[in-house]
Amino acid sequence: MTDTPAHLQALAIDIAREAGELARRRRSEGVSIAATKSTLADIVTEADREVENLVRRRIAEERPGDGFLGEESGAERGTTDITWVVDPIDGTVNYAYGIPAYAVSIAAVSGEPDPAHYTAQAAAVFNPASGELFHAARGEGAHLDGARLAVTPAPDVSGALVATGFGYDPSTHAGDLARAGRVLAFSRDLRRIGAASLDLAFVAAGRLDGYFERGLHPWDHAAGALLVTEAGGLVGGGGEGGTPSRVMTVAAGPELFPRLLEAALAV
Ligand code: IPD
Repeated sequence: MTDTPAHLQALAIDIAREAGELARRRRSEGVSIAATKSTLADIVTEADREVENLVRRRIAEERPGDGFLGEESGAERGTTDITWVVDPIDGTVNYAYGIPAYAVSIAAVSGEPDPAHYTAQAAAVFNPASGELFHAARGEGAHLDGARLAVTPAPDVSGALVATGFGYDPSTHAGDLARAGRVLAFSRDLRRIGAASLDLAFVAAGRLDGYFERGLHPWDHAAGALLVTEAGGLVGGGGEGGTPSRVMTVAAGPELFPRLLEAALAV
């Protein structure tokens, strides 16, 4: 079994395409919400479960000893140093409503399977609705369908286009809105795309200058964060040692990052 970032990236890409095709097909057959989880916005469709099963089965076939951490089926420790962190359909609300901004997000990480202690090795974020596949391998750059990505320099923060999201815990929404207001006050405009992996992929691609959100889980940001750092950006937040966490995840180019982090973490 080969553990190079390039090898892990190739597998992530293959599985993301296969899983994305299943998600797209299910979407065209009509989607029904299978369950609401913590809140009305926190939903799961049959397709989420089916796509996660496919990803989990394909990884187990190709790399039987690896660990797995998935949004729908939870965590399983492996016997190798690699864990696959997977959101089968990130942006499930968009998916359910037919908004073409959802993605299969797959990361291979080494070390302990939590963001404060892992090192992302490879990532694939595939949006089946647009056909765009963002991918990265540690030390080898981030790419969109083979073309190298770079974050925007954004030297003038007042011209920054920034995205955010609102976590599923209603008790945090007043704080989310206050934070969004603080960032809007110094930026060009704010976006709420509805899929964290795409927000991060768009930062990597220079389509957004920055992104921040509280309440994310590792499966929401593991793949996208590697895209950003491999595209020359920074990712951090409110976790141990400034790592992304449920408290806060922030991503931007090096010039905007400190300003955005400060605004996002201010109480
Ligand atoms: C959600 C999306 C959304 C973000 C939520 C995430 P899901 O993931 O990424 O943009 O605001 O915090 O949980 O539930 O659609 O996989």
